[in-house]
Amino acid sequence: MTYKIPENFEVLYSKEQIHEMVLQIAKKIDDAYPEGEEIVCVGVLKGAWIFHSDLVRALSRDVQIDFMRAASYGHGTESSGVVRILKDIETDIRGKHVLLVEEIVDSGRTLSFIKERLRASEAKSVRIAALLDKKERREVPCDPEFVGAVVPNHFVVGYGLDWGEKYRTLESIYMVKDEVLR
Ligand code: IMP
Ligand code: MG
Repeated sequence: MTYKIPENFEVLYSKEQIHEMVLQIAKKIDDAYPEGEEIVCVGVLKGAWIFHSDLVRALSRDVQIDFMRAASYGHGTESSGVVRILKDIETDIRGKHVLLVEEIVDSGRTLSFIKERLRASEAKSVRIAALLDKKERREVPCDPEFVGAVVPNHFVVGYGLDWGEKYRTLESIYMVKDEVLR
């Protein structure tokens, strides 16, 4: 089921294409971590919750899950540049691998901030899985190890991604055509 979407939305990745990307990322993750090592998959709320739930179920091993909530976006489409932690993880990550799960990396501010914080907690490693990477928008260094696709500088919605808290539940990912952002 899906609801009627605005006319200025264009499909960027269909449900099927997203599924393929998730499987590919999961495969890379499975190959990257030695068997038997503990991994804590930390989803960055809210946007990553759907990707996180699909990704952890596509892995061929058991993992622990946790969540963080950080805010760097207001209700518009531009980042405020300020990162606040609204919810921290509850897991003791000392000596464990942490895999941060993000739906999209934009300026890189959110993830580089979170990554630094987690590094200080003596995690064995902190890596990043991002479904989408808006590489050309980067303002601070942030290189996700596991990426679904590099996307151009367009605002996207669906599959967890919102626009002013709307459209998160769409199953495909849509590009919002530029003109509506002005
Ligand atoms: P960053 O800190 O600038 O990298 O921002 C990352 C966060 O901004 C993502 O996790 C999203 O929540 C949000 N974001 C970035 N680009 C988009 C977009 O195109 N659509 C919806 N949310 C976005
Ligand atoms: Mg996010």
